[in-house]
Amino acid sequence: MSQSVFREGLFDGQVALITGGGSGIGRGIADVLASLGAHVVLASRKLERVEAAAMEIRADGRKASAVAVDVREPERVQSAVADIQRAHGRIDLLVNNAAGNFYAPSESLSPNAWKSVIEIDLYGTFFCSQAVLPVMRAQGGGSIVNISMTLHYRGWPLMAHATAAKAGIDALTRTLALEWARDRVRINAIAPGPIPTEGVKKAFAPPPSADGVVDVFAQERAMESYAKKMIPLQRFGTPEDIAQMVAFLASPAGAWITGAIMVVDGGEWLAKPPMPSPR
Ligand code: COA
Ligand code: NAP
Repeated sequence: MSQSVFREGLFDGQVALITGGGSGIGRGIADVLASLGAHVVLASRKLERVEAAAMEIRADGRKASAVAVDVREPERVQSAVADIQRAHGRIDLLVNNAAGNFYAPSESLSPNAWKSVIEIDLYGTFFCSQAVLPVMRAQGGGSIVNISMTLHYRGWPLMAHATAAKAGIDALTRTLALEWARDRVRINAIAPGPIPTEGVKKAFAPPPSADGVVDVFAQERAMESYAKKMIPLQRFGTPEDIAQMVAFLASPAGAWITGAIMVVDGGEWLAKPPMPSPR
């Protein structure tokens, strides 16, 4: 990791629950928070994925554990949170990062495809937030950071499910911030710009050619040219770019910030030209 701007031990004694913490942006967030002293609990469906990530973090001399949770299942979320409270006595930070996404024309989205993405992103964020509230209230406060996006600011073809879910997450961020401020629980969101994680590359992989071959180099070249032309700061983001904002919001520097949605995208959404019709 590059040298941190945050002081060593900033999150000593604190516990951070990160959904989807075993890959991509969630993993980057886990690495940064653990390097600043937090015990990070990584939660996702695939236990082997979060366990492997937690093991790597522990191998670096940091504190991490893993739990299998499908954020769409409120009872499972509740029981995982109860287990974390029993084990650690507190949860200082929840990062609602788990999500699902893929490009698909709205008219062809099956009810289950729509439901899957809305349930992972929006319901999952609500269920996890609701589950940690009593723990945070009892300990005198806490911080929740929701990972949103920018694509719903103007709309984004082929992503009706995810843009609707993330718009809901933004609304939830503001509403819960108002409701839970009296419990000293701060709720904020981060809207990342494009970050070429493995999950995103897989979800948006170009269709294979007639002979079944996916030209990954063509995808890389297209991405390189996109970054140069379309992102004012001329590069894609990294998980660490998002992790630094999580650390800021969760730190005492963010003590008077709640209900805010921080865009971390190299200026991409401001500069976006009108979208051509997908037809
Ligand atoms: N286009 C259209 N429909 C799709 C699709 C695609 N590319 N991928 C999945 N679906 C549909 C499935 O066909 C299914 O609908 P059906 O039952 O009517 O056939 C529905 O979505 C659920 O798919 P399934 O694979 O059973 O769901 P899941 O709960 O196992 O997985 C997803 C959820 C679909 C969101 C999956 O992509 C996922 O696990 N994503 C996590 C990683 C990710 O998306 N990373 C990017 C982060 S932003
Ligand atoms: P990713 O690596 O695919 O991460 C998604 C994570 O969510 C995986 O670890 C996955 O783990 C977990 N997950 C999926 N469904 C789950 C469920 N039902 N219950 C629990 N965990 C679940 O993708 P990413 O790019 O890092 O995305 C992370 C976040 O950033 C998402 O909220 C995404 O919308 C947001 N974002 C990303 C970008 C980008 O360009 N990368 C841009 C804007 C916003 P399991 O499979 O083990 O469950």
